Amino acid sequence: MIGKSAQPVTKISECMTRKAELRSFIERMPKAELHIHFDSIDSEVLLKVADRNNLSLPFQTIQEAVEWHNFRDLDEFLHKWSLTVEVMLTEEDYYDAAYHLGKDMERQNIVRREAMFTYQAVHAHRVPLEVMMSGLEQARRAIRKDFNRELCFIADIDRTSSPESGIELVESIIPYADRVGIVGIGYDCQELGYPANRHRRAFELARANGFFLSAHCGEEYDSGPAGVWDIIQQMNPDRIDHGNQSIRDANLVRHLSESQIPLTLCPLSNVCINVYDDISEHPAIKLRDEGVFVTINSDDPPFMYDLVENFYKLATAFELSRTEIYDLARNGINASYAAYNQKQKYLKELDDWFFDELE
Ligand code: ADE
Ligand code: ZN
Repeated sequence: MIGKSAQPVTKISECMTRKAELRSFIERMPKAELHIHFDSIDSEVLLKVADRNNLSLPFQTIQEAVEWHNFRDLDEFLHKWSLTVEVMLTEEDYYDAAYHLGKDMERQNIVRREAMFTYQAVHAHRVPLEVMMSGLEQARRAIRKDFNRELCFIADIDRTSSPESGIELVESIIPYADRVGIVGIGYDCQELGYPANRHRRAFELARANGFFLSAHCGEEYDSGPAGVWDIIQQMNPDRIDHGNQSIRDANLVRHLSESQIPLTLCPLSNVCINVYDDISEHPAIKLRDEGVFVTINSDDPPFMYDLVENFYKLATAFELSRTEIYDLARNGINASYAAYNQKQKYLKELDDWFFDELE
């Protein structure tokens, strides 16, 4: 009897040890994160800010917050996403939210993070741009000093906004680019029914002013590969945010593989938004195997999962080796908007760490 039950127990504990080792490997690995929304703010920060501003949130405790952040689909998500930031009013509020992103970089060993914000959609009606920018600028400096990590920003145009409003957004961001570390202009919110040609002039203005360009597209089933083609043709993007639906079009997969436009995939976000029932259905590894430049990211952690969990679940579902995980992390650094020298520094840090791990 003892002999019979002892073996499974040993096997279970071996399996748990392997899982813990894998998670620890991913946590300790130096990483870049290129697709995360600043506007999805950590619940503890929100509770503190709401209290300070005498405003109420749809939840009062962390437990209630976890419950409240559930949603069924992209529509409900985008609705909820616009609600909690309502408590953000002052420079200090923006500082706290951005500084939290830096602390979180330390926790997950993220050496560089490029966080998007959608000013038109969720801040403009309440807060002057200068107030928001001052908070972000100071937090970015404090994160450099306290954690030696680089938090940059991408200013997203709301797809549903008018062409004039898109141009205004880019014009208003230009004076803050260097001060706040805004390295790119992005494109997000509702994709279906809002093709990219409406904002071509805003994209051109962004390019002329030295910003990198990226866009959310091909995220939901209905947007499909056509949504990705639309962005490629109208924007000529430096990166594609999501783009998971590309797998359904062999010509598009070939084009992505040849052009090496990086995809900032967010596997668990797609599962949470109900694009896939399970991470094992996610096309990240198939796309990689076809030669597409894929990177792994989180999207909106308070509503979903963080970067470590995305790597971990993907690695578990697809039985990725340590080398495959490291290669994906290398892609993240290579696809970042960091200057050449800075990129080499991050790559060296990752390579040195990885080769030490192998010994
Ligand atoms: N804004 C925040 N997260 C988003 C997502 N996954 N798709 C479109 N817009 C978003
Ligand atoms: Zn996103």
